[in-house]
Amino acid sequence: MAVLSVRKYGDPVLRRRARAVESVTPELRTIVADMVDTMYDEVGLGLAAPQIGVSLRLMVVADAESREARALINPVITEQGGEVTAEEGCLSIPGVFAPVKRAEWVRLEAQDPEGKAVTLTARGLRARVFQHEMDHLDGVLFIDRLDPVTRDRIKRRIKKEGFTEDAAGHRALAL
Ligand code: NI
Repeated sequence: MAVLSVRKYGDPVLRRRARAVESVTPELRTIVADMVDTMYDEVGLGLAAPQIGVSLRLMVVADAESREARALINPVITEQGGEVTAEEGCLSIPGVFAPVKRAEWVRLEAQDPEGKAVTLTARGLRARVFQHEMDHLDGVLFIDRLDPVTRDRIKRRIKKEGFTEDAAGHRALAL
């Protein structure tokens, strides 16, 4: 398995709507394993396939309780509710953190790497991770969800200074 480099803001693959996974092949399982390795190497809580340059509807999410990563294929948010604003970051936009408004809970349907249908309900941070990774599959980044003034300020800063190193305390929030 391999730790891959994470595509950064400005890479067109991050702006593409990812294609559905048609079948779970050995090649796809290798991609999943590499995504898990990459996520843990980056100390992320979640990673979407476009972030490693693979434009497929596939994400991996760390499970805080079991400490095991979970791969979700062709995920769809089928229900959501509530509203909560909390600070968010993204492994593809290092050093940038801002409060983002998200649904407080989500229900998600997907397939697991064995091709089995799974339904998950999540709230709080885990619900936030799911929504953030779902956005990646649609070519949406968390800065798109900020107010225009904040977003422009962040874009100008990236243009001028590039990416700054993550503050250690912030890394756990990068998705
Ligand atoms: Ni992200």
